[in-house]
Amino acid sequence: MSQEPEFVPYIRRALQEAPPKVDPPTEGALRHRGLDTSKIRAMGLNESLFPPSPKIIQALQDNLGMVNRYPDAQCPVLSDIISERTGVPTDCIVWGNGSEELLKGAIDLSTSPGEGCVLPVPTFWGYKSMVAAFEADVAEVENLPDGRIDIDGVLGAIGNRTRIVFIITPNNPSGRMLDKAELEKVVAGVPENVLLCVDEAYFDFGIHAGGPNVLEVLRTRKGPWITVFTFSKAYAMAGMRIGYALCSDVRLAQSLQKTTCVFNVPVLAQYAAEAALLDTDYLDWMLDQVAQSRDQIFEGLKALGLDPIPSVCNFVSTTVPMKGRACMLAMLDKNVQINSWSDPGYENYIRITVGRPEDNVACLAALKEVLDEAA
Ligand SMILES: Cc1ncc(COP(=O)(O)O)c(C=O)c1O
Repeated sequence: MSQEPEFVPYIRRALQEAPPKVDPPTEGALRHRGLDTSKIRAMGLNESLFPPSPKIIQALQDNLGMVNRYPDAQCPVLSDIISERTGVPTDCIVWGNGSEELLKGAIDLSTSPGEGCVLPVPTFWGYKSMVAAFEADVAEVENLPDGRIDIDGVLGAIGNRTRIVFIITPNNPSGRMLDKAELEKVVAGVPENVLLCVDEAYFDFGIHAGGPNVLEVLRTRKGPWITVFTFSKAYAMAGMRIGYALCSDVRLAQSLQKTTCVFNVPVLAQYAAEAALLDTDYLDWMLDQVAQSRDQIFEGLKALGLDPIPSVCNFVSTTVPMKGRACMLAMLDKNVQINSWSDPGYENYIRITVGRPEDNVACLAALKEVLDEAA
């Protein structure tokens, strides 16, 4: 009998061929598998191990009674705050159900099946399914050996049919960011008829680490651009699903909006985001904690004889002298959830989301045991 899959006419072939949607091992998924997640340190998904601001929790509690109402379709209160802080007009700001919805929207608005997209890899695994679903012709550009994005490679991969170029800075899973000169090169080098989409999911950490202001450089660009942010990381709101995009012009913003569902950002997420944006003291505290925690993990990995990649984010990656996936599974057995890199060619890499000091100590101790057992 033939092993060929049987294709049905009513589902696009690209989706039938695409690998199944990833089911990340979230807290809920692990609990559903029967694991006692109260004992597991969640250092695998780049969530925040530090709690959200108490003002966020208060805002949620104060507005629980609103869940019978539809949310504002385009978050006007939040747009006012962001517009005031960035100088970007409110009609160039678009809100999404997490930043992933907006990244997906950027492909949707720009790229018809068979048209081109340039993507530096390795990067956030979500891109793989996004580009597959849109049947984009993807030019993957391998990062440099030290984990940085290969800007010359990205510019060189742009062809006649390229519609969108992604830059992820700081990048996941390397934790590295572009410097100002590299940004200027890419902003000037992407042709004016190609959309440049910057993913700034780790924006706050990059700025805290002394990184360049991407928006300032984007404003010098003649061609179209979108830059995308999330509340999932520095604001500790991954479960709320809210992010936003700043766009170079109104036409682009309106097109991005058309790719989203009408009521895409939950009502509670909007109240939570407002509280988060206004509690700047808490954000500063969070960024200091994450920086200290990152140093603790980085130095701890070096003390284990490993060679971690210098990261500016809330995670650190390193090679290990074993398969990353085996390391990840052995760590889970010791109640520490980390992640391994999924890209081919990087089988020996793991990524650790930084935690509170006690999480980091437990993680490093578990990793030492895993490496000793594998030696
Ligand atoms: C680089 C990058 N972009 C985007 C996302 C998606 O974040 P969210 O949809 O939670 O805003 C992630 C998540 O880890 C990420 O690492």
